Amino acid sequence: MSKTRTYKIAVMGGDGTGPEVVREGLKVLNAAQNKFGFKLECTEFDFGGERYKRTGETLPDSAVEELRQFDAIYLGAIGHPDVAPGILEKGILLKARFALDQYINLRPVKLYPGVETPIKDKGPEDIDFVVVRENTQDLYCGMGGVMHYGTPNEVATQTAIYSRFGVDRCLKYAFEYTRKRNKKKTLTLCGKTNVLTHLYGLWERAFHEMGQKDYPDIKRDYAHVDATTMWMVKNPEWFDVIVTGNMFGDIITDLGAMIQGGMGIAAGGNINPDPGGVSMFEPIGGSAPKYTGKNVINPLAAIGAGQMMLETLGETDAAAAIEKAIMYVTGRKLKSLAAGKMGYSTTEVGDMVAQYTADGPPAE
Ligand code: IPM
Ligand code: MN
Repeated sequence: MSKTRTYKIAVMGGDGTGPEVVREGLKVLNAAQNKFGFKLECTEFDFGGERYKRTGETLPDSAVEELRQFDAIYLGAIGHPDVAPGILEKGILLKARFALDQYINLRPVKLYPGVETPIKDKGPEDIDFVVVRENTQDLYCGMGGVMHYGTPNEVATQTAIYSRFGVDRCLKYAFEYTRKRNKKKTLTLCGKTNVLTHLYGLWERAFHEMGQKDYPDIKRDYAHVDATTMWMVKNPEWFDVIVTGNMFGDIITDLGAMIQGGMGIAAGGNINPDPGGVSMFEPIGGSAPKYTGKNVINPLAAIGAGQMMLETLGETDAAAAIEKAIMYVTGRKLKSLAAGKMGYSTTEVGDMVAQYTADGPPAE
């Protein structure tokens, strides 16, 4: 008899509505483990705004060491109205990404049935691509400084950096992902080679060298970042997989989230694909503090993050069952994805997705 597959999961509900949506995600993951024969051992951590206010701690080094012992991290949301912007984002989210070397930020942009997109005349058959965002370099490194602070002579610099190593490992992931996805087999590099000639010159050379040598089956395409935003709205069906740097990836994936129906549905994975790497999965919307405790927030993005976590852990059947359940709920149940307008409460949406994950959606 085969041994039960057991995964150790660090659960960080975080701030605002984070814990509520993570609770629904765990409900669905529980339903999946019973059905598909694996086991999640969850340990809760309380990092976030409340703990910071109490102790001054964001994500201490000791916690990072502890997190290394897990198979994955399931995160709700970070962001607290009483804490100045930047402290929790840098202290928790970016710290985890950097310290655990989660060098890929994977963000699917997929319009589910029944979900409204602001793009006229486009439907689920047109909006289905994935952004592979580099997640540990670029402007996010914090290189630079300020002099003459607060004076009329103030000077500020913040430098984007890319190493060949950092670019190559991201490209490798993107090529492999495109091959495995097996759809249009097209990888688009999103850059700015007409202006950022150093940075995206490096990306472009690395992209074509690797593609030519190791991925002749994958079509290579290129778009400047400004044009990418245009095509995402005008012809989203052109895209299969987009690979890009950290800053551009941050910006274009918010646009991506909007065309797939908004923050209620958009999920992402901070992935360290190396052996023994610890990846972290999160709904990409914020902590939505004004909805905290009201049981009205949409948990589907968090549920989708849980689905991505299973996918990355190799539980692909369970992940597919969750996605099918989500699609049934968006297509047949919810009136809207917006908080308070779903026609169901947060917990009811979680109940439905859990049930359809376990039993399959009702026969048509
Ligand atoms: C994201 C967020 C973060 C980022 C912030 C909160 C630091 O916008 O995950 O996209 O810029 O990466
Ligand atoms: Mn962002």
